[in-house]
Amino acid sequence: MRPVAVIGIGKTPFGAFGDRDLRSLAVEGGEKCLANGRHAPGQVDAFFLGNFAGPSFAGQNHLAPYVSTALGIHGVPATRVEAACASSGSAFFHAYNGVASGVYDSVLVVGVEKMTCQPTPRVTEILAGAGDCAGEIKAGSTFASLFAMIARRHMHQFGTTREHLAAVAVKNHANGALNPDAQMRKVITMEQAMNGKPIADPLNLYDCSLISDGAAAVLLAPAERAQEFTDKPVRVLGIAQASDFVALDQKPDITTFPAVRLASAKAYQMAGVGPADIQLAELHDCFTIAEIIAIEDLGFAARGEGGPFTLAGHTARTGSKPINTSGGLKSKGHPVGATGVAQICDLVLQMRCEAGARQVPRHSLALAQNLGGSGATCVVTILGTV
Ligand SMILES: CC(C)(COP(=O)(O)OP(=O)(O)OC[C@H]1O[C@@H](n2cnc3c(N)ncnc32)[C@H](O)[C@@H]1OP(=O)(O)O)[C@@H](O)C(=O)NCCC(=O)NCCS
Repeated sequence: MRPVAVIGIGKTPFGAFGDRDLRSLAVEGGEKCLANGRHAPGQVDAFFLGNFAGPSFAGQNHLAPYVSTALGIHGVPATRVEAACASSGSAFFHAYNGVASGVYDSVLVVGVEKMTCQPTPRVTEILAGAGDCAGEIKAGSTFASLFAMIARRHMHQFGTTREHLAAVAVKNHANGALNPDAQMRKVITMEQAMNGKPIADPLNLYDCSLISDGAAAVLLAPAERAQEFTDKPVRVLGIAQASDFVALDQKPDITTFPAVRLASAKAYQMAGVGPADIQLAELHDCFTIAEIIAIEDLGFAARGEGGPFTLAGHTARTGSKPINTSGGLKSKGHPVGATGVAQICDLVLQMRCEAGARQVPRHSLALAQNLGGSGATCVVTILGTV
């Protein structure tokens, strides 16, 4: 396997865009990325599209060539990857393998989702398709209620409190307020975060990620050729994808995600680093409790300590381990199929010192964690400027 670099990034803003369809969002992200990586469409050897539910949200199937041809990319393999909210993280993982193995020299990965064309009850129903439809979903579960059960159990087992959950929301909203591409640029107080409208007890409005439209894209090439296309290449030092049961009731312990532990252990080993070396991270905060558990599963804090670690300010932009400086899924937005690649784009911005008002001083080793469903898929990527 040969070393791989991210040579280009591109993103649309995230938000609710009534006048935009899935393809126009994907094309905007892809075109910005090709320009950023100094590539013409004809130089791309393969195209991967991360998308969770375009056919359900927008009625369109066969999405990869539908997008790639609109980008002017013709003839090459164009493949859609679906892994719930980890769709584009997984697309990135497969693109990485294509370049690392020497099969391709230049791969474009676009993640996209167009969600706001459906009302919230229908969005909730479509998202529930990432759960076990014959069991937990048939019994009435939604993703908010599944993560509510996870939160309740974490509270029972470790003493995690509503205040710990709210601290995640307050921090991510503060970061998102500094991100010009974030959907919700609104600072919230602890009091607001504690008292949002109830969604699924103990989770309220401010514990939930947003319903969003948006796209993000990255361009990968062999590291040895990266300088031809960018002055600021970022290396993929470690990457792994892991899987687990889809249904929550099949997991022996719902306060930890084995797929996150497995993927991160492999990625750390591949990069030759450990949790203490990571300087900043973008974590999958689809619900506030998910960020707390990710902090623990990735080894940033001991089990049960993710909440206190957050409340103490360690994960703030000015803390020892800044997490979700983009605003995270909570405030930046969560167009589910775009999220994994958007995390990579946000870390690359930090590593290139192009993150504007939210720039952090230590940014040479970063980690992205992209989760699908209630933990059935996880992709962990470690990036470095070395
Ligand atoms: C929480 C949720 C149900 C709220 O949707 P809703 O009840 O339809 O909310 P509305 O669109 O009517 O918005 C009501 C207000 O809350 C705000 N709002 C909506 N969702 C919000 C969120 N997640 N966080 C903070 N504010 C939010 C809106 O901006 C609006 O504010 P305004 O009155 O000042 O304009 C929805 O955001 C949701 O389902 N989120 C989770 C998505 C999800 O499950 N993703 C996959 C994860 S695995």
